[in-house]
Amino acid sequence: MKPRAIRGMNDVLPDVSGTWRYLEEVVCDVVESYGYREIRIPIIEYTELFRRSIGDTTDIVEKEMYTFSDRNDESLTLRPEGTAGMVRAGITNGLLHNQRQKLWTSGPMFRYEKPQKGRYRQFHQFDIEAMGYHGPDVDAEIIILCARLWRRLGLSKLTLEINSLGSNEARLIYRQVLVDYFLTVKNQLDDDSMRRLDQNPLRILDSKNPDLREIIAAAPVMIDYLDEDSAQHFAGLKALLDAAGVVYSVNPRLVRGLDYYNRTVFEWVTDALGSQGAVCSGGRYDGLVEKLGGRPTPAVGWAMGIERLVALFEACGGVAPKHSPHVYIVAAGEEALTRAFQLSEELKDGIAAVRIEVNLGGGSFKSQLKRADKSGAQYALILGEDELAENVIGLKPLRSGEDQCSYPLARIVAELGDVLGKID
Ligand code: HAM
Repeated sequence: MKPRAIRGMNDVLPDVSGTWRYLEEVVCDVVESYGYREIRIPIIEYTELFRRSIGDTTDIVEKEMYTFSDRNDESLTLRPEGTAGMVRAGITNGLLHNQRQKLWTSGPMFRYEKPQKGRYRQFHQFDIEAMGYHGPDVDAEIIILCARLWRRLGLSKLTLEINSLGSNEARLIYRQVLVDYFLTVKNQLDDDSMRRLDQNPLRILDSKNPDLREIIAAAPVMIDYLDEDSAQHFAGLKALLDAAGVVYSVNPRLVRGLDYYNRTVFEWVTDALGSQGAVCSGGRYDGLVEKLGGRPTPAVGWAMGIERLVALFEACGGVAPKHSPHVYIVAAGEEALTRAFQLSEELKDGIAAVRIEVNLGGGSFKSQLKRADKSGAQYALILGEDELAENVIGLKPLRSGEDQCSYPLARIVAELGDVLGKID
């Protein structure tokens, strides 16, 4: 019986892995140009970390975590997102006390969701977090750098939605307003929402149940209950985005599915990918560091879904640079193969960053040349008995239709270096 892959967990095959790597490199390049530095954190954390940060009554914690006991009976969870682990790492490594940090990380995340296009059980995020900054300037920066990234990748189909969730105190007032509203339509709520009415009524706004859409659409919105400081913060963010020419719309219904947010929340969305349109989402979480046991530290960040970024890049006609070999060495006969291996190493020593594949597994000239063509190489180097006898080697351009030439073996490193200088 063939082994099965786990539902919602995909292999990234060689034909697309080049696009993944290209996009990850460009994102990394852009965020590092704004001063963000990489941190690598474990894929597994104590379950408690996610419960306390993401929130007990969120869909993620209630329904979607991969949680298990280790051999020591400790409850561990495969990370459903990166922020909690980044904050934990900041606290446990003493990175946050009297310091400011701009960090990025990337890697797989795990959520037991219903798999569909753009939504997977193992998916990948690129994540940035700025900790220790409280003004709206950093909120603006992390959004503006996305706009730069979209331009650099030629992505035109993204729009920005922003909202403010205010302070914790203002949200308590709003919470009561919301409870009062939902009580008036109580008989139309589903079981989940009834339960959340007591525990966390804001989560009802995040419900995926289509039957609740109208009730939710008519609910009062947080932005009408903002405290003065949060209103100013939001105005500051909008002014900076305006000055930078970043277009946005305020979406008062944007609440996000994680409990740690306050003030700014935002999503870059597209309608080019079907129903899973959020490509990059984030916001401010000023209370989280303290809640997890660190000193009070304001923080803000976002995470981008790499699967969705790849899909959008392709939908916008983007093509990642290919890394085909420059040269494919065709070698007929045992002696020629031995010489081809030597030559390949000499060429790699002599020509910086050259990519060379030697034909493996023998074959006729014709079949080797077919493989050379399929490899995407620009040139084939041809070594057979005749060439060896004369101490020469054939150089055949595979893409231009130019004729094959012959060079003395002793000069081929210099000749090829010249020729490749032209194509690189
Ligand atoms: P999130 O909205 O849960 O936020 O996820 C961020 C992004 O990850 C989404 O916009 C989407 O592109 C991608 N994503 C989420 N779930 C899936 C899935 N099942 N399959 C494919 N892609 C998915 C967070 O995770 C926060 N930690 C973001 C953040 C960072 N907030 C502050 N700092």
